Amino acid sequence: MTAKKGRVFSGARPTGKQHLGNYLGAIKNYVQLQDEYDCVYSIVDIHALTTLETTVNLKENTLEMALDWLAAGMDPQKSVIFIQSHVPEVTELHIYLSMVTPEGKLTDLPTFKDKVRENPNNINYGLVGYPVLMAADILLYKADTVPVGIDQAPHIEFARECVRSFNYRYNTKVLIEPQMKVTQYPKIIGIDGVNKMSKSLNNEIEISATPELTQKRVVSMVTDPNRQRRTDPGNPDVCNVYSLHKIFSTSDQVNMVNTECRRAGIGCVDCKKMLAENINQNLAGLREKRSQLAAHPNDVWDILHDGDKRARVIAEATMQEVRKAIGFAE
Ligand code: AMP
Ligand code: TRP
Repeated sequence: MTAKKGRVFSGARPTGKQHLGNYLGAIKNYVQLQDEYDCVYSIVDIHALTTLETTVNLKENTLEMALDWLAAGMDPQKSVIFIQSHVPEVTELHIYLSMVTPEGKLTDLPTFKDKVRENPNNINYGLVGYPVLMAADILLYKADTVPVGIDQAPHIEFARECVRSFNYRYNTKVLIEPQMKVTQYPKIIGIDGVNKMSKSLNNEIEISATPELTQKRVVSMVTDPNRQRRTDPGNPDVCNVYSLHKIFSTSDQVNMVNTECRRAGIGCVDCKKMLAENINQNLAGLREKRSQLAAHPNDVWDILHDGDKRARVIAEATMQEVRKAIGFAE
């Protein structure tokens, strides 16, 4: 086996069935990096608690997300795939990192301000510390590369600052500064045509949806607002249907849509039907694999539990170094 380039870590909250934004913005990268890097991927269920009011669906959402990950090609033979809460060392590192973090830095982060806007009635201490826990995730596994969507940039920068503060405070080199790695599609827009695709905005297209539901979601996509009637010419440059064509359709189809939309040669309905067909075709293999995996959920839990054990070995080794660097009594 050739030497791997380095260690990759990434995580995602167990939001259940994944959408095209997660898939194109993150999961595809996770899959691609598996051959070149030593990869560790985590279902970050502790992070999920920062905004959840109930955990009744947590287990189910964990399984649904794991099914999407595995169906997309994340491979337990190549990568460690595990559940964050099963490796509690991360909470210990979180508290140590919190001691080198000025409180104002967390409340100033744009990601924190967004969360406050979304959940004004649940601004808890854990939510303020969300980036500290995320830094602990990455640093615990000594990752040098973190594949994420562009929305996570402030958190990665924060993790880098954490490393510098910790290593400086304790005069050590034990923690490693990570770099972020975005995919070709760092921000997929939702069916509303305006906002980032996201479950909480209900503007998502799930990768495991049936072909019929996919078509329904695509048909309801907001297009160029200036194209009111079939006979009006449209502007593909401001249309999210066109953006998705560029990802899922052949170059001939993309060129055709580009030309015909501008001269009202193709209507939005036909344009969307073509897109839906291409999305369905592209995801057919993933969906087939997913339904096979879903028939044996215990095998999926076994994969995750095996990942927990492998993750814990790495985590415990780092924590021994961290405790020593801090200078606790032995
Ligand atoms: P989340 O489901 O928000 O925890 O996100 C999981 C991963 O998917 C993170 O790396 C995000 O940056 C990425 N992601 C989520 N939504 C999008 C989107 N609309 N476009 C691109 N990447 C996304
Ligand atoms: N904050 C990330 C998101 O919302 C999830 C996450 C938690 C993460 N810990 C991480 C991503 C560590 C990368 C590395 O998508």
